[in-house]
Amino acid sequence: MNSEIVRLTSTDTDLIIRCHPFAEILYWGPKLVRFSPEDVASLQRPVANGKLDVDLPLTFAMEYGRGQFGSPGIEGHSDGYHAAPVFTTTKVDIKPGAVTVTSEDELAALQLISELRLDAQTGVLQIRHTLKNLHHRPWQLHRLAVTLPVPEHAVEAMAFHGRWLREFQPHRVRLEHGGFIQESRRGRSSHEYFPAFVVGDAGFSEQRGAVWGVHLGWSGNHRLRADVKTDGRRVVQAEALYLPGEISLGEGESCSTPWVYAAFSQAGLNGMSQAYHAFLRQSLIRFSAKQTRPVHLNTWEGIYFDHDPAYIMQMASKAAEIGVERFIIDDGWFRGRNHDQAGLGDWYLDEQKYPEGLMPIIEHVKSLGMSFGIWVEPEMINPDSDLFRLHPDWVLQLPGYQQPTGRYQYVLDLNHPDVFDYLLARLSWLLSEHPVEYIKWDMNRELVQPGHQGKLAADAQTHQFYRLLDELNRRFPHVEIESCASGGGRIDYGVLERTQRFWVSDNNDALERQAIQRGMSYFFPPEVMGQHIGHRRCHATQRQHSIGFRGLTALFGHMGIELDPVQSDEEELHGYRHYIQLHKTLRPLLHGGTTWRVDMPDDTIQVSGVVSQDQTCAVFMMAQLQMLNYSLAGKVRFPGLLPEAQYEVSLLDSPEIKTVREGGGTMRELPSWLRQPMVVSGDWLMQAGLALPVLAPESALLIGLKQV
Ligand code: DGJ
Repeated sequence: MNSEIVRLTSTDTDLIIRCHPFAEILYWGPKLVRFSPEDVASLQRPVANGKLDVDLPLTFAMEYGRGQFGSPGIEGHSDGYHAAPVFTTTKVDIKPGAVTVTSEDELAALQLISELRLDAQTGVLQIRHTLKNLHHRPWQLHRLAVTLPVPEHAVEAMAFHGRWLREFQPHRVRLEHGGFIQESRRGRSSHEYFPAFVVGDAGFSEQRGAVWGVHLGWSGNHRLRADVKTDGRRVVQAEALYLPGEISLGEGESCSTPWVYAAFSQAGLNGMSQAYHAFLRQSLIRFSAKQTRPVHLNTWEGIYFDHDPAYIMQMASKAAEIGVERFIIDDGWFRGRNHDQAGLGDWYLDEQKYPEGLMPIIEHVKSLGMSFGIWVEPEMINPDSDLFRLHPDWVLQLPGYQQPTGRYQYVLDLNHPDVFDYLLARLSWLLSEHPVEYIKWDMNRELVQPGHQGKLAADAQTHQFYRLLDELNRRFPHVEIESCASGGGRIDYGVLERTQRFWVSDNNDALERQAIQRGMSYFFPPEVMGQHIGHRRCHATQRQHSIGFRGLTALFGHMGIELDPVQSDEEELHGYRHYIQLHKTLRPLLHGGTTWRVDMPDDTIQVSGVVSQDQTCAVFMMAQLQMLNYSLAGKVRFPGLLPEAQYEVSLLDSPEIKTVREGGGTMRELPSWLRQPMVVSGDWLMQAGLALPVLAPESALLIGLKQV
């Protein structure tokens, strides 16, 4: 095979790379019907006046040493020397769907290995670089980034901001003359900046436009940027962010970027999400399609720290009655943990609360046919804990400074071998002495001055976190793990490789959840998203929602209940039972089908759904977020159906729908399909659509489509 021009191809996407004399991506876009390596000559650029006299390629390393004045792909030095390397390809290794390019700067004695894989089915591109120091003098690495060129018509970017209780909020920026950058130094993927963004055509939407998505699969500090160079060319970059002095490469030592996962779609954001979802299901998700996601009950918002075994058993009995399949005891079960100011680090059972141990509860839970799970927060320590009194030096800190606490806690230094061994031992005790099948792994504090032996070590801390998870997965392969960090503070593909579920947000308010879950759905399929029905009056917002709106909002994800069922009235219990049953009926479709978000002209309405892989059935949710902009809700044009098929359209769940002729209410007469199911062609439903009812704000309904 010609190793100068390499083509990686998938069903819908092509990636064309020139590998000699240096590596650069020439094309990343729609699959080409015809291509020959000679075609790339058409891209030969002019050299403009008033600039350097040479053409400047957008190489893998984006070297400053070549004359690239923008953000380089590599920055570092060896005590001031070898600070502007330039790489030349020395080896190209081509395998089906993958290419590895090795390049070197002989003067700086640096080697760069770049691995690229394009998944043949989904078109998801995985890239990472590894930099190796071949010199006996250490090389201090400041930055190592994956750089991807995107075409000049990528003029808009969409990224996600957030905070505690408000994750995954999309925002848009224009890309012109300069760029856009987002950084996180919080020591986790963070609520504030999910490590991903999308660039695309002007006005790209759910269903329209070319888009290029980029995600850094990393749970630590990160930097993402999109730049418009002064010559108009555009690049996106993603990297782990290194704090000063963190990475020094001794002779023969190397450092790799996290994997960057990139996806191109010609069909708007849906195409990108569908590629990511399919890729995750096929390559990253740790449970098989046959391992049904059990419905959870988590005790946190039901009892908080108030643990009484007899009462917890009553909760479990009620949970089983309404259809729960996994029962989880949250925070509060270990020594000294009567509130959030003490106990973290002391991973021993609180024998005052649990004089008989955990076993009676676990046996009770299992006798009811449910599996058992428990909460932990291993990386943390409260100053008010036996562990801290014994080992104050185990804290991740720089000596001589006073750390601020966060939720009254510090972070443990996982690079300290004794800390690592202690945590592994205590978690192994928990998981081997008790038939625990699930742990919720929390992380409630950001990293400040994360010091190990006097030097900053946030990057190494994240690597140790992964090592701890890897070792636990090796020892206890049957135990599933949920990644939680004050809700959605640690959500990314790096942690997904080691866990099975994300706690999306501490906010169980159905209205807020509609936005948060939609934001997360751009990069994650429903079955890894923890979505719980919370109290009628939401603890986070104090807003009240009907069981219908709460039930439907939790329905599509990895569903659960987060409240005390013993205290719930009959109407509420009936609602939980109903939505759990509905979820179980629809679960194979929801967790195996293709997710669609629909472009709606009226932004007070949110429509999304799942179509089965064979396109014979689908379920769509219409959520009315606020008062409608106009007096009618208009139509929904369903995507993803078979045009030639006939579908029966029916109302699968309509908690709030009513007609009121006088004195308020939103409708006098329902659209006819709501009065009785009707059969309509797929083409008609996709092109002309279905008239939507006028719903009250903060309510939802579920539409079913079934081929007849
Ligand atoms: C923060 C989590 O996000 C909550 O779900 C809960 O587990 C608490 N921590 C417990 O302290």
